[in-house]
Amino acid sequence: MTSRKLGVIGGSGLYAVDGVQDARWQSVETPWGAPSDQVFCGTLDGLEIVFLPRHGRGHVHSPSDVPYRANIDALKRLGVTDVISVSACGSFRQEMAPGDFVIVDQFIDRTSARPKSFFGSGCVAHVSMAHPVCGGLGAVCAEAARAAGVTVHEGGTYLAMEGPQFSSFAESTLYRDQWGCSVIGMTNMPEAKLAREAELCYASVAMVTDYDCWHPAHDAVEVTDILRVLTGNADAARRMIRGLPALLGPDRAPCPQGCDTALEHAVITAPAA
Ligand code: ADE
Repeated sequence: MTSRKLGVIGGSGLYAVDGVQDARWQSVETPWGAPSDQVFCGTLDGLEIVFLPRHGRGHVHSPSDVPYRANIDALKRLGVTDVISVSACGSFRQEMAPGDFVIVDQFIDRTSARPKSFFGSGCVAHVSMAHPVCGGLGAVCAEAARAAGVTVHEGGTYLAMEGPQFSSFAESTLYRDQWGCSVIGMTNMPEAKLAREAELCYASVAMVTDYDCWHPAHDAVEVTDILRVLTGNADAARRMIRGLPALLGPDRAPCPQGCDTALEHAVITAPAA
């Protein structure tokens, strides 16, 4: 058993969490530069927690500009073991309605303008992304969200797009009808890949704000529509987070899925002689 430290990356609408004891905002430096903002550290009902607003307080980083490597590295440096990513998304499924949460279990990465790895020349590593999220951590998020009164869908494929523009109708119907995606967003990639490289358990809670533009009754995605749903979603996310310490506890066993040993057979570069 080791100690658990929970990292929460908050997306649009979620710039803070409540109920945290001994809370302080703290600056972190990383070799990848500064993270999106200071991190909010403290203890939530006996569980150490680090909160990082993905877009920064005041929402200053666009999805393409979020310093994903610095964010994941900052959490790792602070000793975080488990990361819960909370983000807004559009829905491709009628039953996944605005206000619902989707516990994502697969990704299609269509982002194109972001550094995606901690590795590169000098040290080459290839981690597996076959099962890109931590199933155990996702199940706990689902339980906490349900207890918080949210309609939860366990499992779904998240299409990560570059943005910042929303999809065209042709893209939206392609992702939905041909590729079988469930939700669409702009931020879970490369975040999930980097979390895996950092050997962190990572779960994605995608909060539906809209139906994207495939839906016959929703001709175009408008930020005003998203903002209307966002506040309620953020309140529900805060309630979900408050329920996590009781479910997770302060200690953790090795991840049964091996998220915490992802690099064990991944590095190809020979050690320096
Ligand atoms: N975030 C929230 N809604 C979205 C949508 N429809 N497309 C991409 N990102 C989103």
